[in-house]
Amino acid sequence: MPELVDGLDSKSSALGHVGSSPTAPTEVMGTYQRLPLKIIRGKGCWVWDETGKVYLDAVAGIASCSLGHSNRKLRHALNRQLNQIQHVSNLYRINEQEELAKWLVSRSCADSVFFCNSGTEANEAAIKLSRKYGHFYRKIKNPLILTAQSSFHGRTLASLSATGQPKYHQGFEPLVEGFIFFPYNDINEFENLLQKIESKGPKVASVLIEPLQGEGGIQPGEISFFKRVRKLCDKYKILLILDEVQVGMGRSGKWWGYQNLGIEPDAFTLAKGLGGGHAIGALLAKSHADVFEPGDHASTFGGNPFACKAGLTVAKEIERLNLLENASRRGEELNRGLKELVKAYPKELKEVRGWGLLQGLVLHEASKITTKKFIQIALEQKLLVISAGPNVIRIVPPLIINSRETKIILKRIQRTIERLI
Ligand SMILES: Cc1ncc(COP(=O)(O)O)c(C=O)c1O
Repeated sequence: MPELVDGLDSKSSALGHVGSSPTAPTEVMGTYQRLPLKIIRGKGCWVWDETGKVYLDAVAGIASCSLGHSNRKLRHALNRQLNQIQHVSNLYRINEQEELAKWLVSRSCADSVFFCNSGTEANEAAIKLSRKYGHFYRKIKNPLILTAQSSFHGRTLASLSATGQPKYHQGFEPLVEGFIFFPYNDINEFENLLQKIESKGPKVASVLIEPLQGEGGIQPGEISFFKRVRKLCDKYKILLILDEVQVGMGRSGKWWGYQNLGIEPDAFTLAKGLGGGHAIGALLAKSHADVFEPGDHASTFGGNPFACKAGLTVAKEIERLNLLENASRRGEELNRGLKELVKAYPKELKEVRGWGLLQGLVLHEASKITTKKFIQIALEQKLLVISAGPNVIRIVPPLIINSRETKIILKRIQRTIERLI
């Protein structure tokens, strides 16, 4: 059995750690080392535990609860949907699915959408799409997919194999073959690798990459890197596929992460914020990249009326409440406040990175503050935060957060640091 380890030294992603929490019942598999907190109720950006203590939630179900908790519009829409119809099957046309697909296509560079239930599934679909494209359009026998070091694409086997962090692979070999890694944001390395692989004819089907690396430590993509990657993909007729699972759907202050990078992908994946806390994932593609035909890919629950109603309601509410602007403004406030903390505590804090409401407070590796301790002490200050990689505290509140709540996050983070030093 793996030892009980914290998120820093272990195979953690966010709160997902190897080992069992000492407080968790043994009937639940120990795939997470859970914090000793049982959340039983939520409203907006606030959650309550079973003893009645109230916490400010800067985790939002790991960047998922875009409209916060117990949102009235979402509750009413989903209640109505439950009364109408919840699940049928993709054997039939589904109104809510068609409406959500139309909405997503009208607001993005994509022409069509495949729906599934999670981020990892959306990436599995992207991997299959890449391979089919490689076989049929580039005539490659064993198509390769290039992905970045320090990336995170999910826990199912192909997405895990695409993930550029060996710690997640350990114990699950043999991995799915056909993935080659390059250093994120390093255009020379990328270009050399691509040229070398393609020198004797077509080998690469796609490049799969996050616009901002989330689990890898809140590392934003660089515009010059992405523009050159786009050009190279065009030159070789390789698909550029972005994993927007964490960044997409408004979290960066723009609908899509790629809008921060001055490029358009051939396809991209979504999940997390799309359902506002409900299980939905999606692969979106431009028409030339949509190579799927009937029978190529499927999901029993993917795109069901309930999940799509959630997605549609979230999308319309983000627009109606102007939450893109809110994510930008509150994100700037957070970023500014965190930078002031970095100035005030230079020995412990290194820098702040992020876009919109996806901010990372980077701790010095030599600092005696660890992310595990930080999360525990923040919890005592009634603030929920998570880690992103070994030395980054990730702050991802709901997109509805207001200025007053942003200030409370900053105050509680400051109190946490003061307690820790
Ligand atoms: C960029 C990215 N891709 C994929 C995933 C996997 O998503 P899910 O947990 O919904 O399978 C995550 C989850 O953290 C993610 O951040």
